[in-house]
Amino acid sequence: MTPFGTAVRKAMIEYRAPAEMVFVCIDRLGRATPIPDEIARFLGPRPPAGGGHQPIRVPVGDVELAVEVRGEGVPVLFVHGFPFDRTMWRHQLATLSRVRSIAPDLRGVGGSGAPPAADGYSLARYADDLVAVLDALGVRQAVLCGLSMGGYVIFELLRRHPGRVKAMILADTKPQADSAEAKRGREELTQVAQREGQDAVIERLLPRLLAPATQATQPKVAGQVREMARRWSVPGLVGALRTLRDRPDSTETLRGVRVPTLVLVGSDDEIAPPDTARAMARLIPEAQCHVVPAAGHIAPLEQPLATSRLLADFLRALPPS
Ligand code: MLT
Repeated sequence: MTPFGTAVRKAMIEYRAPAEMVFVCIDRLGRATPIPDEIARFLGPRPPAGGGHQPIRVPVGDVELAVEVRGEGVPVLFVHGFPFDRTMWRHQLATLSRVRSIAPDLRGVGGSGAPPAADGYSLARYADDLVAVLDALGVRQAVLCGLSMGGYVIFELLRRHPGRVKAMILADTKPQADSAEAKRGREELTQVAQREGQDAVIERLLPRLLAPATQATQPKVAGQVREMARRWSVPGLVGALRTLRDRPDSTETLRGVRVPTLVLVGSDDEIAPPDTARAMARLIPEAQCHVVPAAGHIAPLEQPLATSRLLADFLRALPPS
């Protein structure tokens, strides 16, 4: 190679800039459609050298949690809902760039340890577990992103550890406590969990979880939801159901929030509907609220492209730490 050629080559290597590419998958009619898992995995941020996307194990006192950690950038802690696990964020973990994604399985779920008795579970324990995960990873402040029960856990974290929250993303969640009727429903479901196990629980819940569009056009999503529910232990289900039943109203907690907040909700969410999400957003000064079309209660899984785009826009606009 000539000296000139060598110089050009060296310059190309030294000045190579990071590139961000956006892929949109469309169907035959040109409508945006979720990127198949296999392709999202291929296109998403590459796993760090020497490690796949295997979760790391983080001791949090009485149990160890399985925590998936990916990428580099602003730390975002993803908190799943009930009865799901960290894989409900699979599309966001695969496609968000410039983010250090931290996605634990809560205690009692998936790869995490499961205390045998129901008193091993409470909002305080779930919230303290998350802070123990941040401590173990050396993260002082994170963007907290929670779906439904994940949101209730974030509300508790706000009460117990407000200084750890840089910003919030609240998806398909609500501040209200359970009504008397909802509490009775939790009791019944607890008995179903104890008598018949995980499959019976998810079959009771599924009809209200997914949008009609999801049920009609993405039959795989219901299968993914069933798989996540099967990864719950029975004590984990019972402990979570008691926690959900007994959770406090978080309206006043949210009125006190002073961090950037994004509220998002599926247009067909029956459990935390759009009107509830809009009212919740109004509690928080300057919170943004977006409705994700053709999604039910699990917008990140049902409409991953639209959800990830909202997350990416919100994260990009955050002030640097
Ligand atoms: C969830 O998705 O976490 C549940 O729908 C929460 C709830 O039942 O209140």
